[in-house]
Amino acid sequence: MKVRITETVLRDGNQSLIATRLPFSDFAPILEKIDNAGYYSVECWGGATFDSCLRFLSEDPWERLRQIKAKMPKTKLQMLLRGQNLLGYKHYPDDVVRKFVDLSIKNGIDIIRIFDALNDFRNIEVAMDQTKRSGGHAQGAICYTISPIHNLDNYVKLAKQLEEMGADSICIKDMSGILGPQDAYDMIRAFKDTVSKPVILHTHSTTGLGPITCYKAIEAGCDCIDTAISSFSGGTSQPATEALHYALKQAGYDTGLDVSVLKEINDFFKPIKEKFVQSGILEHYVLGSDTDALVYQVPGGMLSNLISQLKQQNALDRLQEVLQEVPVVRQDLGYPPLVTPMSQIVGVQATINVLYGERYSNISNELKSYLRGEYGKAPGELNQELVKRVLGDDQPITGRYADNLEPEFEKTKQMLGTLAENDEDVLSYIAFPQIAEKFFREREDRAAVKVNYAIKRV
Ligand code: CO
Repeated sequence: MKVRITETVLRDGNQSLIATRLPFSDFAPILEKIDNAGYYSVECWGGATFDSCLRFLSEDPWERLRQIKAKMPKTKLQMLLRGQNLLGYKHYPDDVVRKFVDLSIKNGIDIIRIFDALNDFRNIEVAMDQTKRSGGHAQGAICYTISPIHNLDNYVKLAKQLEEMGADSICIKDMSGILGPQDAYDMIRAFKDTVSKPVILHTHSTTGLGPITCYKAIEAGCDCIDTAISSFSGGTSQPATEALHYALKQAGYDTGLDVSVLKEINDFFKPIKEKFVQSGILEHYVLGSDTDALVYQVPGGMLSNLISQLKQQNALDRLQEVLQEVPVVRQDLGYPPLVTPMSQIVGVQATINVLYGERYSNISNELKSYLRGEYGKAPGELNQELVKRVLGDDQPITGRYADNLEPEFEKTKQMLGTLAENDEDVLSYIAFPQIAEKFFREREDRAAVKVNYAIKRV
């Protein structure tokens, strides 16, 4: 039986372990090998790569994508996209979303995994539609979370909804590694019984469940799993590619992977990992298993944010109270998945409630926006008393937030003038205005230095 493997070392592995600090020049020499390993796809773009390229690495993210494509003509390239929020947390107008998706595909992306933090699929429909129009593979993703209203029926409904919207495949996205093997098994069986599109599992090894969950998912008929080459696997990253290949092969599955090539890829990345250990960017705690997420039912990243917030307030002794307040706030908010930005909104509010000694005596602006419906529709019922307190007599937004946004692309292009060399630059600017502008100016300076040097030589 065939099983497909998506390699994440260039994106999620890189993002989860070393804060996306891997420069193109570090991994360029191994791309041809990766292309020959037999992966179904390689996740290499989206998420934080764009931000990190511009902010820390002085790289044009579009140029990185084109270079990867040139060296990997055979393997499908994959990216992660936050629906109407693209790579950030605010909503962009439809013209920007369409242009971004179209140029991502034109520059080399084959598969776009599209999700919304609230699983409000109105926020992914434009990105999905454009992916298909531009000739790409639109993978619809469901954010996995645990709550009293998130049950198997609910997830099956979401999967059906994605299929009806035209998704080419359906991904279960377990960003915090809390999906247990049996739950994964049951969910994938149910998906396979109700939808005809391929099912993909994306999880993390954070709690230690990842490899078992992946294996059990395959037993349930999962078509594809995400793994990272072993030197960039484990902990907050994905389960190891080679270990999953080994286990699956033993059980008679065909991953299509060539172990000798995997060995070369891993040998290549080992010293790179060591370099990041030496520089202090790769910290030891991201590599082990941390089961606190299973105990508290909050993702590891959210837990560490709560701890650092409380430390700043000199109130670390209130942690247990805050952890008890989290489910209360979450219920009032209609059980949003605890993924960014909802994990922060819930965590900050739970902390405020505990430290002020009175619930909602102070409400963050982000929570106000959420209650107004600016992020999308909550999965469950909102606490109406709380909504009324924040909105007064105003009506919440019930439509799609982006319907209220004016087109932005052409206007921004005109405003940037020659600072933007092409449409890709305009999108970089729209996504990250300050850091893109700084990047463009430094690029101009570098070009000027080259011209001066050339003139002197003449
Ligand atoms: Co992930």
